[in-house]
Amino acid sequence: MTAPVHSAGRWCLASWRSVRLGYQRLHQTQASGRETHFGFQTVSEEEKGERVYHVFESVAKNYDVMNDSMSLGIHRLWKDWLIRHMKPTPGTQLLDVAGGTGDVSFRFINYIRAQREKLYRDKLDSQETLSWSDISKSYSNKDQGSLMGSHAVICDINKEMLKVGKEKSLQLGYSEGLSWVAGDAEELPFADEKFDVYTIAFGIRNVTHIDKALEEAHRVLKPGGRFLCLEFSQVTNPLLARLYDLYSFQVIPVLGQVIAGDWKSYQYLVESIRRFPPQEEFKEMIEDAGFFKVTYHNLTSGVVSVHSGFKL
Ligand SMILES: C[S@@+](CC[C@H](N)C(=O)[O-])C[C@H]1O[C@@H](n2cnc3c(N)ncnc32)[C@H](O)[C@@H]1O
Repeated sequence: MTAPVHSAGRWCLASWRSVRLGYQRLHQTQASGRETHFGFQTVSEEEKGERVYHVFESVAKNYDVMNDSMSLGIHRLWKDWLIRHMKPTPGTQLLDVAGGTGDVSFRFINYIRAQREKLYRDKLDSQETLSWSDISKSYSNKDQGSLMGSHAVICDINKEMLKVGKEKSLQLGYSEGLSWVAGDAEELPFADEKFDVYTIAFGIRNVTHIDKALEEAHRVLKPGGRFLCLEFSQVTNPLLARLYDLYSFQVIPVLGQVIAGDWKSYQYLVESIRRFPPQEEFKEMIEDAGFFKVTYHNLTSGVVSVHSGFKL
């Protein structure tokens, strides 16, 4: 069954992928409405959706504190890396799916603000003869306060996560350039070809049908648009992998219990990480959904990876 991939050209590769996708779908359809996994447990697909909802409803209030405690703050560096890798330009329309409490979108806004400041500084530097009144006019210019057309939509299935995120955005002063939408990654409530960039950070492993979520990502992106996924992955260094396993199973649920009074949700989070496909397999799934130039970068020896693909 591997021969056609090597012996034929691009067209054949595409056909082979659709055959494989069809096979996967058939496989999934047989299971559809029946069984899937919730961490290490086997449950019905309906039950998985409900239980995932319940996990994030239950962790929402402590989500940010727990993220910092569990990752020793490293999740912040991974999210920073994601945005630097994205390199959004002023005007970018971002859809941040499973956006939760808004971390990725807030960083996106910060990045655009920094770009805008740099543009203004460069403009002022190149016009050395400007008077103070010109400079002050330039600073009170209407688009100075805006994100130059950039916008981030945070879409998440969980209303509690969105609520916590909205409160956080007000506290941190992110009033502009953000919208919060309740929606399912498998059935996005947006028109086709609407966004320049689609991100999903630590969200896709919770989705019941990953292939559907990937298809939806492809549908809502404009041609030329970019898919970016930050997710826990497979650790490449064997020693680190053992330590990481120990930490995940022995420490994280305990932290969940001590900080949030919730062992079970954090047990699920650890188990769901182990169930998620490794880097190469996930790359193929992204290609199957129709993305091109799919690549990935391992961060922290593969504790997480960032997959990227383009809609052509
Ligand atoms: C681990 S949190 C990640 C939040 C945020 N992206 C971050 O990096 O901090 C996972 C999020 O995925 C959301 N989620 C789970 N299933 C989803 C689905 N089918 N559609 C949209 N969001 C989903 C959860 O509600 C939760 O907010």
